[in-house]
Amino acid sequence: MAQRKRTAVLISGRGSNMNALISAALDPNYPAEIALVLSNRPDAAGLERAARFGIPTAVVDHKDFPGDREAFERQVDTVLKDHNIELVALAGFMRILTPFLVNAWTNRMINIHPALLPSFKGLATHERALEEGVKLHGATVHFVSAEMDDGPIIVQGAVPVLDGDTPDTLAARVLEVEHKIYPKALALVAAGKTKVTGARVTTRGDEEVAPALIWP
Ligand code: GAR
Repeated sequence: MAQRKRTAVLISGRGSNMNALISAALDPNYPAEIALVLSNRPDAAGLERAARFGIPTAVVDHKDFPGDREAFERQVDTVLKDHNIELVALAGFMRILTPFLVNAWTNRMINIHPALLPSFKGLATHERALEEGVKLHGATVHFVSAEMDDGPIIVQGAVPVLDGDTPDTLAARVLEVEHKIYPKALALVAAGKTKVTGARVTTRGDEEVAPALIWP
């Protein structure tokens, strides 16, 4: 098997998607290894869990760089390079990125967003999905581009919106699908099976006939 891609997971909080990626990467045949978990918040719950798995962790506290997002990102980039990171997976990393970090990691940085992009970019996605009355909601893993919650879509997972849903019940249903699609998307990217042409991602490999939509 080709070398597993050294992947950093960037978190800000509880880290349930990080967990899903760590679990997937426990399989030696998984094409990525989680080589670093980095948080911008020292109190992120996910840090402790990553450490329990023996994964190196790092904190770059954005509060140490007041008013200077790029300086914060330069430090993040330095830590990533220090750990010989090849791919970056943002998993609930709640910082708006500047072109510096985005350009440094073009096609090597992916993000999970709790909505079927391009609908519901930004925050409070479940509240807004309920307000708009959509019947189908979900999550998206995409390459990170200069625009927030934009960039070529790798995998989407859809869930129904049910009568009686609250933002919390809907969030829980979406989170389940997030934990399925993120390991799948990272595997596709790490295995070199994705090709980006403009806004489109196509996937290579016969065994991945319809990898891009998960419909539970
Ligand atoms: C996830 O639902 C993720 O999709 C979302 O934050 C949550 C993090 O949960 N990300 C965003 O909203 C980014 N725009 P987790 O820490 O348990 O993975």
